[in-house]
Amino acid sequence: MEDGKQYIRWNQQWSVGVDSLDDDHKKLIGIINQIIGLYASKSEERHLRSAISKLMKYTGTHLKNEEQFLESIGYPQIQQHKEVHLRLMYDVLAAKAKLLNSHYDGTSTEELKRFLVDKWLVEHIQQGDQDYARFLRENSLKHAL
Ligand SMILES: [Fe+2]
Ligand SMILES: [Fe+2]
Repeated sequence: MEDGKQYIRWNQQWSVGVDSLDDDHKKLIGIINQIIGLYASKSEERHLRSAISKLMKYTGTHLKNEEQFLESIGYPQIQQHKEVHLRLMYDVLAAKAKLLNSHYDGTSTEELKRFLVDKWLVEHIQQGDQDYARFLRENSLKHAL
């Protein structure tokens, strides 16, 4: 089973200023920690499979929530943001098979961590989503979804 360790900790600087979307991101980070933990503890494949499915499912839900929110506030760059989401989903799908097929050794744990951290945290939460967070701040839009 996973070791419950927080490999990645939520950082307040990543907040997008919308509680429900921050909660989604926190939940995604929780699943990522779970996956890294399963890898690190060389857990059985079925646990890993189910955690990766959970990540994919929740990714889909989150991206939809985010797009609906951006539509509701009339975010001008919504098309570009949707394209980023499509690429992200594609990357997650492409990585799935690779992750499941890779051997449980130190190298693949590092590779997996890099993928989850680079794609998820850096590209999605820290960079991509900060664009609309800035837009919200600049337009002083307060949303409590
Ligand atoms: Fe997001
Ligand atoms: Fe996003």
